[in-house]
Parts: sequence; structure tokens; C-alpha cells
Amino acid sequence: MLLCGTCPATEPQPPLLTVENPRTEYIENPVGIDQYPPRLGWEVKSAQRGCLQSAYQVQVASTAEKLAVGECDLWESCKVTSDNSTRVVYAGKTLVSGERAYWRVRVWDQKAHVSEFSTPAYFEMGLLQKEDWKGQWIGASERPLCPGDPGSPWQATHGENADAPVNPAIMLRKEFNLPGKIKSARAYICGLGYFELYLNGARVGDHVLDPGYTNFDRRVLYVTHDVTAQLKEGANAIGIVLGGGWYDMPTPDIWDSQKATWRRSPRALVQVNITLADGTVQTLQSDERWRVSTGGPVVFNSVRGGEIYDARKEVKGWDQSGCQDDRWKKALVVEAPKGTLSAQYNPAIEVMQTVTPVKLSTPRPGVYVFNMGQNLAGWARLKVRAAAGTTVKLKYGERLGPEGMVTQNGLNRFTLGRFQTDTYIAKGSGEESWEPAFTYHAFRYVEVTGLTTPATLETLEGRAVHSSVEPSGSFSCSNELLNRIQEACCSTLVSNIQSIPTDCPSREKLGWTADGLSAATAAVYNYDMVNFYRKWLDDMRDAQTPNHGGMPCVVPWNGWSAGADTGAPSPWSCPCWGGACVVLPWMLFQQTGDIGILETNYQMMKDYTRSLERRSKDHLITWGTGDWLEVGAGAWPKRTPKPLTSTAFFYDTARIVAQAAAVLGKKEDVATFTALAHEIKGAFNKAFYNEKWGGYGEDSQTANAFPLAIGLVPSERETEVLSNLIKNIVEVRHNHISSGIVGTRFVLDALSARGRSDVAYAMAAQPDFPGWGHMLKDGNTTLTEEWTGNDSRNHPAFTCVSGWFYRSLAGLNIDASAPGYKHILIKPAVAGDLTFVRASLHTVRGQAISEWSKTGGCLKFHIAVPGNSTATLSLPASTAAEIIEGGHPVTSTNGLALDRRDSTQAVYMLGSGDYHFEVREQLGRADPIPPQ
Ligand code: BGC
Repeated sequence: MLLCGTCPATEPQPPLLTVENPRTEYIENPVGIDQYPPRLGWEVKSAQRGCLQSAYQVQVASTAEKLAVGECDLWESCKVTSDNSTRVVYAGKTLVSGERAYWRVRVWDQKAHVSEFSTPAYFEMGLLQKEDWKGQWIGASERPLCPGDPGSPWQATHGENADAPVNPAIMLRKEFNLPGKIKSARAYICGLGYFELYLNGARVGDHVLDPGYTNFDRRVLYVTHDVTAQLKEGANAIGIVLGGGWYDMPTPDIWDSQKATWRRSPRALVQVNITLADGTVQTLQSDERWRVSTGGPVVFNSVRGGEIYDARKEVKGWDQSGCQDDRWKKALVVEAPKGTLSAQYNPAIEVMQTVTPVKLSTPRPGVYVFNMGQNLAGWARLKVRAAAGTTVKLKYGERLGPEGMVTQNGLNRFTLGRFQTDTYIAKGSGEESWEPAFTYHAFRYVEVTGLTTPATLETLEGRAVHSSVEPSGSFSCSNELLNRIQEACCSTLVSNIQSIPTDCPSREKLGWTADGLSAATAAVYNYDMVNFYRKWLDDMRDAQTPNHGGMPCVVPWNGWSAGADTGAPSPWSCPCWGGACVVLPWMLFQQTGDIGILETNYQMMKDYTRSLERRSKDHLITWGTGDWLEVGAGAWPKRTPKPLTSTAFFYDTARIVAQAAAVLGKKEDVATFTALAHEIKGAFNKAFYNEKWGGYGEDSQTANAFPLAIGLVPSERETEVLSNLIKNIVEVRHNHISSGIVGTRFVLDALSARGRSDVAYAMAAQPDFPGWGHMLKDGNTTLTEEWTGNDSRNHPAFTCVSGWFYRSLAGLNIDASAPGYKHILIKPAVAGDLTFVRASLHTVRGQAISEWSKTGGCLKFHIAVPGNSTATLSLPASTAAEIIEGGHPVTSTNGLALDRRDSTQAVYMLGSGDYHFEVREQLGRADPIPPQ
């Protein structure tokens, strides 16, 4: 070996072009998917600016070894000239159930550089055909307990006062022998309402509250686990515990959960496909040879009510071989649920955070109140040392009453029977640790009674639970209140991402569509929501009224409030709720560029808009719930006419269907729905525009902002409407928001789209009532349902402000003509007293960044555009300003080109890559930094 002290060591050069983050159907290495053919996506990264993918090559093989040597026995795409990097359709040999495919990809840029192949990825199919399922649905009984039945858990009282209700979890078990070493094994399982799967004494996987909530009459989700490591040669045992979940809700409520059309006693279908080392295949499935017991430790469970766990009833070794189960019964073969079995591809619910309480108080002797320091969705894990039979009660709530005890007032008023209360009965075996399995609660406080030794802060931990969506964005700025609001928005969003988007994790836990839609406008920036919302769109298609096209206000829909979907008189039917089935697919298409989302949902979007048309008169819709919870109005709006919001939403759906039709090449529909939108626009302006006042409603921000935001205002009137809106905000409301859950996002967006982010910022940063700052008074960590702070303290509708932070203050926007961040419109708003903003966003193509800071007359911007994307960047700059990029006058830098410059802005076209701009204003000259 030669050593040369004088030669500089040659550093290995990073590759110029790489492919990263290979995904199948937006998931990293999914196991058990049933979308066929699956679609592949990746991110392109380049050390050089302006990188565009010009071609790709995908290789797919049946084993990792074959793939490594390029033996593509499943598919070799060869070099395909294409810029598609987000949804390349697998076009190889037909894959069968359980088949795994290994794949890799390499890409070429527009200068013919070629990358190395990506790290190998894989995807594995689930059970694709009905016939692949060998087992039978099994359970303990066919019918659930109903009012009047002996042992019914139905109670006519509120709160935690339900004495010893009975609704046990169902335990199923089976022992089996495997005659050889195991090469691979997969468990496919659906257990309704919720299930836990055990093999040889251990839980399988880390999901909780599986499977996701659906309309079980239409669709039931099965989950696939790789259980190779949990099986062994010789004697094995499998066990399942079934909770009621949303399938069998025992506690009655006003939304008729107890009368759901699908309601039956819990049941399970499971199949374990095992390949032994010698290649032989064994299948274990659920059937009448299994054993069942309802005498286990979970003596009561209800999603809303809570759980009662009697540890004395634990059956030692029930999930291991050699357990005496003669007192168990033969499992009952029960009817299959009506819904089609589909693979669960939405992110599973998991315990995402363990929270240590910040404070313990003792308001009364023997009553311990734990303060978690934050409002969260989930439950508590209890540690206890007590004699057998000691009964410890955990009452969960978001507030404390005057005496410092937990109060559930307000939250429990629509549910009968037990509410948000867990009970643990000790077995007396030293230190015992327990957490519930089939319920979840919204809480900041847990009141614990029944302990026989004094509690300490170690007695309880909070377990935050939600669908495991990956964080995708970050936002911070120089205003501390805005940072707290952003944090609270994220805490509120995740608390309400529970296999469906919910309105709150406490009182209702329901998929109210207006709440879900409003929250979606923020969630898509903060989390990777694609598969979560694709699944909710599946739920919406399942909920749509056949032959009519109506969409209920709550999805999944259990049949409650007949008429909510069809237009029969119901206070809960509203285009601002149902219209989510049109707006959300379009929003997801914009985020991803995934035309498949439009293809799958187009008929629903069109049918819904048609149903609105049928229920309109002269293109006006007079019915609806309206701008719910506007300031000072109670629940139903007083200042914003309901027909105005309903008709505006009708217009929005027609306009979106026309655009979706254009993307899908449906020319006739483009013409029909464009004409419909035009008609509605005319009727809307005739009915609601007030010539005298120059707007649509004197003291309603929503009435003016909503039409502005969606293009309902004739262009010649825009300035007047905008100035009247601003007048109301500044002069009448003194920079305070006054809209409800329908209009708020439009108020912020309408202002920012017209360069008045300064006004929107003044409202968003307002510390006092009404506003987001006021919601967070008293150390609240989540947004409240009402501007006053009343009712639920964890309601997501007003989180829409977080989406506005990204779109306006950071200025990261989608170009509707190049969706999926193929082209990004970046227009940061240097608003109010802000001195810096930092935002990053993981798009389907990689990371986009927009950061700015202000010192004196100098504005600095850090912008990053992901590979295979381009951007238009608008910088606030007077004509006199000097603009520098990367330390050089802007003209001399690569990857960018000046598009135009006027008295308020300099607009550049950017290729991918990292950019550092400085805008230096010549102080004292004309054209100062324009207001934003
Ligand atoms: C929910 C809302 C929902 C509303 C319908 C409430 O009870 O919590 O957020 O949108 O009802 O108007």
C-alpha cells in the first residue's frame, strides 16, 4: 500500500443522481395489499439543479437474490421514456395471492445521466380471490345483547354510574402442530369490531384497535401479518380476543350506534398460510374446531364507554399449547358480515406516544387526579400493587370541576350508560400493569379511585393512540403564539385521525364530513394522508345512496338520521358536509397527481353533484346546516344565510366535477358541468349580491370570503367585495375572525389569494376572543370545538389555519395544472411583524422547503424544489431592490430564470435544487417592500 503524505486524500464523490424512497401504493414494502395492479413510486434526487426525470427502468423479480443479479423473472420494464415517478403501474407477470415481488428502479435525467438502481424494495399481495379464504367466520353467538335481554349492558343513566354492565370480550383459541421447520408464515385476519391476535404466548404486531372502521355491510378490512418468527416446529397455539368496536356498540347514543344496520355479535375470520422448510404448505383457518370463551378478563368493552378488566379472570397460557380448555365451548360458526373483504392499506392505529403525567393532585382523600399536561386521544396504562379484587376506576376527561375532580359534563350528554371510564380489578400478584384494548378516550385528566396505597406520578402513563400517519411537514415562525397554534393543530389533527377522520375523540368520535374536510386542508401538509383519505373515500362511496347520489353528513354511516343522505327533511343534510365527497378527491389529486384517485371516485363526485341539482330550485339550494358555530351565533349560523353557503358549495362541486372531467377526458361532462356551474353562479349572484352594500352579507365574513375564494364573484366586483370584507374584519371585528367551521378556511385563503395575508395574519395571531389564541388560553394544547372554548376541547375543524400557514406564510402552493407538486407555486408572504418563517413539506416527489427571514431592508429566502419538479417563485421586491442568489447577482446563477419583475415582485422559474436568495431593498428609495 502506498502512502503519500502530500497528496490530498480523494473523498468518494456522492453520486450525481439517486433514486430514493421506493414505495408501492404509497407504502414502504407493503405486505398483504390487494390493489391490482399495484403502482410504484420513488423520489429522484440530484446533486445538480434543474433535474428532471427523462426515463426510468423498473426491474421486478421473485426473489431478492434474482433481483440483485438483474434476473427479472416477473417484470423488466426496460428503459421507458417518461417523467412519471409517482405511479408507475406494475405490468409484469400476473401475481397470485400471497406472492411477493422484489423491485428496484433506476432513472435518467434530461442530460442522460443515469442513477444507480435504488435499494431493493418489495410488495406482497394479500388474498386476492374470495376462494383463497378457507376458513369460516366464528364467534360466541349470532346476536348481540339488546335492550331487555338478560344481562344487557344498556343503561338509562349518564356517565360512569353504570354498575357492572356485561359485554365481555370474546376469546377464541386453537392448538395445532407443525411437522417441520418454518420457512415463512402469514396470518390474514379480520375480527369485528376489534381484534387482538396472539401466537404462542405473544401478541402479533403492534397495531391497536384493528381493523379500521368501515360500513361493515359494505366492506370489512383484513390485516396481514408476517408471523414466520412466531411459529415453531411442533406444538403451537393461536388465540384471538374480540371486542365490540363500532360493529357491536353496547352503549346507546343519539347517533344510533346501537342500532347500526350491521350490528351483530363480534366474529372473526383468520387464516395462517405456512410454508415449511421442505416446501410443503400448511393452512390453519378459523372453523368449528376452535374453542370459545366469554369468561375472560375483559368483562365489558365499549368504544365510547370504556373497559372493565377483571384480572382474576385471566386464563394463564390460553394462547399457548397445553392449556386446559375443557370449560371453553366449541366455537360457533356464524354468518359472514355482508361487507366485502378488503386488505387494510390505510395506516393502522398504534400507540404513538407514551406520556408521563406532569401533576398529581388529591382533591379528596383516596381520589387521585393525574394531569397529563396535554390533551390526547388514547388511554392510560395503570401500574398497581393491591390485593385480589381491589377495584380501581379510571375516569377520563378534558376538564376539572370546581373541586378539582374530573368532569365529563357536556361530553357525555348524548350517550347513555358508561362513558370514558375504565375499571381494573386486581388479581393480587405483586406489581400489575394494565391498559385497555377495545376503547379510547379524549383526556387531559384521569381521576383514579379505589387504590389501596397512595398513588405516585409513576402509577399512570398516558398512551396517545392514532392512525400511524407519517409526519410530512413542519412549520415554525417568529411568532410564538403561531407556533403554539401550529403545535395544537397537529395534536388536534392526530387525535382525530382514528382510521376515519373524527369530529372529536370524546363525545362523538364520528366521521362528520365538514369537520373532516376542513381538517384535511391542514392535515395534507402536516402528515402523509394519502392512504388514510383514500380509505375514507372508499367509506364515502360505500355511504352514497344508491340511485340517488346523496351523501350523509357522517361517514361511515350506520343508517342514523334517515333523510340525511336523501333529502328527506333532516337538519343534518347539507352540501357543506356531503360535498366533501367531491372536494376531497380533488384535493388528494392535487396533492398527488394520482389520476387513479379521480378515476375511482369520479362517479361518486358526479352523482352527488347531480343529486344537489335535483334538490335545487332555480339553481339555488335553500336547505342545509350552514356555517356551523360562527362567532356569537350558537350552533346554527345567524349572520350567514344557509342558502348562501349551500349554494356556494353546490357551485364548488359543479366546478370541480367539470375540472375532474377535463382531467379524465370526459368532454361531454366538461361541457355539462361547466354550464351548470355557470348557471349556479348567475343564480347565486342574483340571489345574494347586495348592490347597495357591495357584497354578500354585511357582517358575515364567510358570506363574502367563500364566493371570493371559489370564483363566484364576477371579476368586476371582486375589489369591492374584498374591500368590504376587509372593512368588516378591521373596523367591525377589530381584526378578529367571526366565521364558523364551513367558512373559516375560505376567509384566510380569500385574503391571501389577493395579497392581503397581512389581514389574515392579524386575525390568526390574535391572542384574545375570538381566535385561535383564545382557544389555547389556560394552557390548552388542542383546539376547541367552539371559539368560546366550550364543549369538546379537541375538535379539528379550525385546524384549517395550519394549512394556511403553509400555503400563505410559507407560500407553498400546488399548481392545479401540474398537480402532485410537478410544478410548485411558491409565494412567501412577508406579513405583519413576522421576522422569519420556516416550512418544509415532504411531497410525493421529495422535500420542498420555503424559509424566509427579515433583517432591516434585507429579506433572505431558502427555497428547495424536489427532484423531477419545477417551481415558480415570487419574491416580494420593489423594482429598485437588488436580488442575490447564492452570493451572486441573480442573473449569473444556474437552474433559474427570471420570468418577470414589476413594482411589487420578482418572479423566477426554478428547477429542482436548493436556492438562497437575498432581496436587498435600497432604503430611502421609492417602492418599499409591498404589503402582503
Ligand atoms: C359535531 C360537529 C358536526 C356537527 C354537525 C356536532 O355534534 O361535533 O363537529 O359537524 O355536529 O352539525
